[in-house]
Amino acid sequence: MLTISIALIFSTLLIGTCSQGNKKCRERIRPVTTNDGDLYELIDATLDQKLVLECHYCGEKDDSRPRNWYKVNKMGLNEPHEVQPDMENNPELNRIQCIVLLSAHIAALARNLAEVNTEHSLIINNFTENDTGLYYCLGLEQQDESEKYNYLVDLVYEINQTEIESGNISAWMRYFYDYFEPANELLRLSNGKEYVHVREELKLRFELVSQWEPWGTCEVCGHAKGEAVRKKRGHCYIKITQNGKNTSYAEEDVYFLKVKAVSCRSVRLSRVFPGIGNLTKVIPDFIQHESCEGICNPDAEGVNRGWKMGKSKAFKYRKTFVLPVESHLTLVCPESTLDNEVTWKYRGKALHAGAATNPNVLVDTFNTLYLVDITEEQAGNYTCKVDDIKMQQVVVFVVPKSRLLTREFVRHLVYLGFILSLTGTCYCAGLIVTWNRRKTFKNFEELIDEHPEDRGEYEHLL
Ligand SMILES: *[C@@H]1O[C@H](CO)[C@@H](O)[C@H](O)[C@H]1NC(C)=O
Ligand SMILES: *[C@@H]1O[C@H](CO)[C@@H](O)[C@H](O)[C@H]1NC(C)=O
Ligand SMILES: *[C@@H]1O[C@H](CO)[C@@H](O)[C@H](O)[C@H]1NC(C)=O
Ligand SMILES: *[C@@H]1O[C@H](CO)[C@@H](O)[C@H](O)[C@H]1NC(C)=O
Ligand SMILES: *[C@@H]1O[C@H](CO)[C@@H](O)[C@H](O)[C@H]1NC(C)=O
Ligand SMILES: *[C@@H]1O[C@H](CO)[C@@H](O)[C@H](O)[C@H]1NC(C)=O
Ligand SMILES: *[C@@H]1O[C@H](CO)[C@@H](O)[C@H](O)[C@H]1NC(C)=O
Repeated sequence: MLTISIALIFSTLLIGTCSQGNKKCRERIRPVTTNDGDLYELIDATLDQKLVLECHYCGEKDDSRPRNWYKVNKMGLNEPHEVQPDMENNPELNRIQCIVLLSAHIAALARNLAEVNTEHSLIINNFTENDTGLYYCLGLEQQDESEKYNYLVDLVYEINQTEIESGNISAWMRYFYDYFEPANELLRLSNGKEYVHVREELKLRFELVSQWEPWGTCEVCGHAKGEAVRKKRGHCYIKITQNGKNTSYAEEDVYFLKVKAVSCRSVRLSRVFPGIGNLTKVIPDFIQHESCEGICNPDAEGVNRGWKMGKSKAFKYRKTFVLPVESHLTLVCPESTLDNEVTWKYRGKALHAGAATNPNVLVDTFNTLYLVDITEEQAGNYTCKVDDIKMQQVVVFVVPKSRLLTREFVRHLVYLGFILSLTGTCYCAGLIVTWNRRKTFKNFEELIDEHPEDRGEYEHLL
């Protein structure tokens, strides 16, 4: 299984871009020129960031077959080894987590939650230079050559966002002449010791290029007619080509022989070639704009992003449950995955995963909230945040079974139904409700059957 020949692993000039934020995935459709040009996605990581590598193509789901992560620490010098997740008891202390294991007690609870145990993302918290290397994810049984979830992760200096240049293609030409031309001339011709070493001893050719992400969506909403715009980012990269052989490379140089490109802001580049690093690490990236055509689609464009940006004061989703005592409720925070930071709160207090302070209220390590054998004490307001975004508020009412079918309770339901219809955009798909004692709970149809005289009062709810 580990027979992937590292000698084969050259490089590509693609960037893990489709990926959102810290989450990196591979594009299924890549502009592949040659097979060895398609072996991995280049990933830039900064010190202390959280990095999530996904074991599937962008926008697709994991197929839940067992998989393992492997790592090559030093390209061209090491054999791959299996990534060992940290085994601290406290998940918050773990720097490296593989989400593959389901502990038995959670497995029992999570029978209904097929989705949550199928991701195999590799999560690296607080990225350090020791985490750089080539990572890949392989199925335990199959080895489908077409599936390449390979990532070459390098540590880079943080970019100063205020210094990113942008504009149309003409502006990019100016950017090219201002930044790339002078640097490329030095790399080609300088008699500086380092430049000569790279060219004549290592026999490598360095050349600055813009490494383009795919175009973003066409931004139409809020733009005047004919002024819609789409953008793509060009990362400053050094393309490396080999022209000749030297049989005795120093260890630190081997990386540059094995890869086909390295970020202008690579920490490794600055360490091995400080002069070249000084020259390239200050070169900003470029965001190219281009006009485009389309119709305004707020969801696709993320116009509703206010929620996602955490700007909104209210919760995005609201939901109300009326539960008979002793019933169970299972809640998954909407729009979250295992890679997000999910915080459940009850009465202003955070509910910690795995903490067993209250046997009736549990959060497992997959951030699923369980209300078990509920009593009136557990009534109230449960909220969840996803990465600091106020995502969902669940108000839980608990009623004694004796009151379940009284006229008063039915009115209560109607009142709640009225609230629900005001907040009609309630999110349901992410919510999994299990009614272990479903027979003790009546739905609206059953209530109507039993109390036909109240029909008019709650018919509008059906
Ligand atoms: C990891 O990073 C977070 C924030 O980036 C920080 O609060 C935390 O202290 C760091 N942990 C360690 C062990 O360095
Ligand atoms: C990186 O690894 C080396 C050797 O294993 C170790 O001495 C060093 O403390 C590690 N650095 C970090 C930041 O973890
Ligand atoms: C980023 O660049 C701006 C303008 O050049 C400068 O004022 C600011 O201090 C820089 N920030 C960092 C973190 O270097
Ligand atoms: C780029 O934008 C400038 C004005 O900002 C304009 O004069 C120029 O024609 C544009 N170039 C192209 C190729 O659209
Ligand atoms: C090969 O590279 C080493 C340094 O890595 C250098 O000392 C040596 O002169 C080079 N050999 C050739 C033939 O260029
Ligand atoms: C790189 O820059 C730093 C500070 O900006 C300087 O101290 C160092 O001498 C430079 N290194 C080289 C090789 O030019
Ligand atoms: C529920 O809790 C949230 C924050 O924890 C608070 O903003 C909200 O007002 C509460 N709602 C109710 C109905 O108690």
